[in-house]
Amino acid sequence: MSSHRNRLHPLLLQPVSVRDGVRGIERPQDLLDFLAEDPLPLTDLANHHIVSARQFTRESLIQLCRVAASYECMPMLMYKPLAGKLMISAFYEPSTRTRISFESAWHRLGGDIMSITDPATTGMAKGESLQDVAEMFSNYGDLMVLRDNDEDSIYNMLESLRIPIINAGNGVDEHPTQALADLYTLLKWRPGLVADNPEPADRIKVGIIGTPGRMRTVRSLLILLSLLQPAIEEIIVINPGSDLFSPGQREELEQAGLKVRVEKGLKQVLPELDVVYINSIAWVGETYETLTGDLKLSSQSALKAGSIILHPLARGAELDESLDPTPHNWYFAQARGAVFVRMALLTCLVQRINQVLDAPAPEGKRGPAPRNHSI
Ligand code: CP
Repeated sequence: MSSHRNRLHPLLLQPVSVRDGVRGIERPQDLLDFLAEDPLPLTDLANHHIVSARQFTRESLIQLCRVAASYECMPMLMYKPLAGKLMISAFYEPSTRTRISFESAWHRLGGDIMSITDPATTGMAKGESLQDVAEMFSNYGDLMVLRDNDEDSIYNMLESLRIPIINAGNGVDEHPTQALADLYTLLKWRPGLVADNPEPADRIKVGIIGTPGRMRTVRSLLILLSLLQPAIEEIIVINPGSDLFSPGQREELEQAGLKVRVEKGLKQVLPELDVVYINSIAWVGETYETLTGDLKLSSQSALKAGSIILHPLARGAELDESLDPTPHNWYFAQARGAVFVRMALLTCLVQRINQVLDAPAPEGKRGPAPRNHSI
């Protein structure tokens, strides 16, 4: 029998909001104050698919984070820029954060959603091609979000799709909007990371505990970190294994100006890291491997004062719950901020950014933008 059956649980005696919040939520206003508004890089995203983190420029990344900060500062929007728009949310692999935060983002902006969580409930179960499914979806919605463990599925749909599609994780390849959430968290922590010529003392060392070649979140994150290269002193990949990078991956990062080092153990390097990014699993074919050895973090770990931990979640044993009440915990803020950065991206893709910023109206639309609501 449940131990709670004969007494009132203590958490039922206080309002929900009294409980400890998420670290980092106080920062969006700092970021908003730090960044100047420039809607032009965002208008370039209108009506585009988003499949790879390579599609973002330094300018579009920064401005997306600025809009995200605006939304986060004002979650109760008076005006719903996506009213009348329909999103098709297709998640063929389990997801807690990505699906629900995308759907939360779309709903908060006033749009409606059709959700599919099992491809067996569509014609694909009868052998219908992805190209034909894409043709149909183009008639039924204004934007599609897809998670599929086959990294080619999204590419197979591109030619037939006439609405933007967002990659919400395609096998081991990429997870570009997770990386947006990661960068948004970093910029809230230190808005100065966008400086073109940061002081040496303001540059950061980022530790990646994981396998860059087989972790889609890490693959996309590293691409976006290369856009902040002036502020990144070094990327340190911590993993005792071999074959850590996919072909050409490390070279691409180094050509973008990132200094990349590999360390086998965590203990020696942890005290020098400003940011520790840890992930739990790396895909190997149809199965996955978990982190091994001493690649675990807890409140007893020798973390640098002021350093932060990011994790795309869900976590395993590698991220001990003893870290949750510490100032190093920015992983909950990271998951929370994902809603706002996805709101920013969605607003741009469906050509509604001119309704929330002073941006030019989308091509083909005449007359002034209906700027009913200012963020
Ligand atoms: N970060 C992330 O992709 O989490 P989910 O698998 O829960 O979507």
